[in-house]
Amino acid sequence: MADTRNRTHSTPASGSKDAHSLDTHHRSCSVHSTSSTSSAHLMVPTVPRHVAFIMDGNGRWAMKHGHDTRIAGHEKGAEVITDLVLAGLNMGVEYMTFYVFSTENWARPSEEVEFILSDLLPRYLELKLDFMMENSIRFRAMGRLEKLPKSALVALDKVCKATEENSRANVTLALNYGSQQDIVEGVKAFARKAIDDPTLIESLDPSGFRNYLDLPELPEPDLLVRTSGEKRLSNFMLWHLSYTEILFDEQLWPDYTPKDFKNAVEEYSRRTRRYGNSLVG
Ligand code: FPP
Repeated sequence: MADTRNRTHSTPASGSKDAHSLDTHHRSCSVHSTSSTSSAHLMVPTVPRHVAFIMDGNGRWAMKHGHDTRIAGHEKGAEVITDLVLAGLNMGVEYMTFYVFSTENWARPSEEVEFILSDLLPRYLELKLDFMMENSIRFRAMGRLEKLPKSALVALDKVCKATEENSRANVTLALNYGSQQDIVEGVKAFARKAIDDPTLIESLDPSGFRNYLDLPELPEPDLLVRTSGEKRLSNFMLWHLSYTEILFDEQLWPDYTPKDFKNAVEEYSRRTRRYGNSLVG
């Protein structure tokens, strides 16, 4: 059930973070708030409802395979996503989120940035629309989308709108996404509301603040997988990962297979999530 904050969030005031969201992805990826999934009790996980991926290692994959640019690694990295999404669907994973481009990735060589955002991304979305419709996948994007190239925005708008009614599973791409930036924007949006209504300050709690972050209707990831052996979060969903189970895989992203995903889900199902509680019973 959407609470007052959620309703307020979906009818944003002009100039707020909410307005930013509406002007970008929320216009095309309109949101319907669902109940919070944060669990405060001890539970033994089975299939994760939401798996997030930090797809790392494309550049090293390209070098390892004798390519003279990193671009071939990104091309291959995009290709493997479809089979992973299918594997997720078959296992009953409802939400899959992929970190494609961070707010810090603009520092990469301009040819690489241009390739990912102006070539690969629009091409990928165009190519995968049928797949998403056939499998009833709802597509969303999160991040500061307004900074993306026009061709990417057009493709995102098309796919978000076309898949809006799909309900079997949810795929989200994080694009020009930075968690610290998202949190700061959320604080600003909250502060703007609190100027008009200071009573909001005392009643704010973590689940209420969550509504000021991007895509508040997504449940928190249950499992995060980062490939390529690097062990860091790289400004990805820092708020949302508070109680997420994390798995670091040594393989480079283009080599990550559905079997690896299944193994990750099996490992997840062997873990006990405690949410700060002690082991009881
Ligand atoms: C990290 O590997 C990868 C990225 C920053 C880009 C991720 C993008 C993709 C997987 C392509 C998906 C694209 C679409 C459009 C769905 P890296 O380049 O940092 O690799 P390295 O650590 O080996 O250098």
